[in-house]
Amino acid sequence: MDTINFTRGVPANESFPLDEVAAAAIDALKARGPAMLQYGPSAGFQPLREWIAQWQGVSADRVMTGNGSLQIVEFLCLALLKPGDVVFTENPTYDRTITMLRRHNIEVVGIPLESDGPNIEALEAAAAKHKPKAFYIIPDFQNPSGTTCSGEKRRKVAEIAHKHDFLLVEDAPYRPLRYRGTEEPSLYSIAPERTLFMCSFTKLIAPGVRTGFIIGRPDLIHKLAKVAEDTYISPGYLAQGITYEWCQRGLLQPQIERLKKLYLPRLDACLAALDKYMPGAVDARPDGGFFISLTLPEGVLTSTVRAEAAKRGLNLSDGLAFFPNGGGERFLRLPFCALTPAEIEEGVRRLAESVDASRGR
Ligand SMILES: Cc1ncc(COP(=O)(O)O)c(C=O)c1O
Repeated sequence: MDTINFTRGVPANESFPLDEVAAAAIDALKARGPAMLQYGPSAGFQPLREWIAQWQGVSADRVMTGNGSLQIVEFLCLALLKPGDVVFTENPTYDRTITMLRRHNIEVVGIPLESDGPNIEALEAAAAKHKPKAFYIIPDFQNPSGTTCSGEKRRKVAEIAHKHDFLLVEDAPYRPLRYRGTEEPSLYSIAPERTLFMCSFTKLIAPGVRTGFIIGRPDLIHKLAKVAEDTYISPGYLAQGITYEWCQRGLLQPQIERLKKLYLPRLDACLAALDKYMPGAVDARPDGGFFISLTLPEGVLTSTVRAEAAKRGLNLSDGLAFFPNGGGERFLRLPFCALTPAEIEEGVRRLAESVDASRGR
């Protein structure tokens, strides 16, 4: 088998609903062409804002759409934070968010992440010490760890946010991708007035649509929209118009069901291969999303395993960038969605061999 890439958390190419998007694009342009090709309000293409509002059970003035959800993090930095502010993240967290926060000279403090969410005592102590402006948290099928925050911890996180008066930035691109088990309440549903909830169509349709959204208090959405206007006048209405047409045809739910059917066997193949070749290595057993994470055995470094893996035709990512305050030398993220079950089984076999070859080195 050729080289196996257990590296990037991207959707599978075969998941893209190409024909549906092509048909939606033509019909969207016929129906709403001038609006899609013209400038307009920076808070997003209005029909899509309204569709999302209905889907999420909120009013449209609580919704802003942007060019993917990551850039909305940048707007948060510009509109609601200032240099020197402290923002908490889970430790580990999504590396690009750390980069974005630091680019705006925001101090990032990582809160230790456990298999059922952040360590609550550490969060409480850090809140008292640092007076953070916000906690950026990925409660569902977290990137990079794969963990999901329990309902009980979500309520405690919200209580601590109230007590210490900081915002919750709930980044939830994987929330709709639950392959089994029951959904936990969103932080937004627990604390709607201090939570900004973000999600994205990039994992549900394709990254190429670059369409993400944020839901929150209208006064906060208004501030974000002002920064967005100063950045790009209006977001990519062409993509948002196509996304709207595709959504209003009722295609989102069947697509989510197709994604679950495609990805569940990949998740199970990855868990089974890890149980077979590396028993006990998995940190948390996810029920959805894109990622499983491991802590390598005592004394075995991810950097050494990567070098051994490369000799065996297996590409792995370094885990260090996910840790805002150091650590992660034995952390490994395995994104399983873009590989077939056979590639996953062979990849994990090569990984186990690479770990054995790294012992004592
Ligand atoms: C937690 C998290 N947030 C945001 C993003 C970026 O999403 P988008 O493509 O909507 O910008 C990703 C993509 O991997 C992610 O894992």
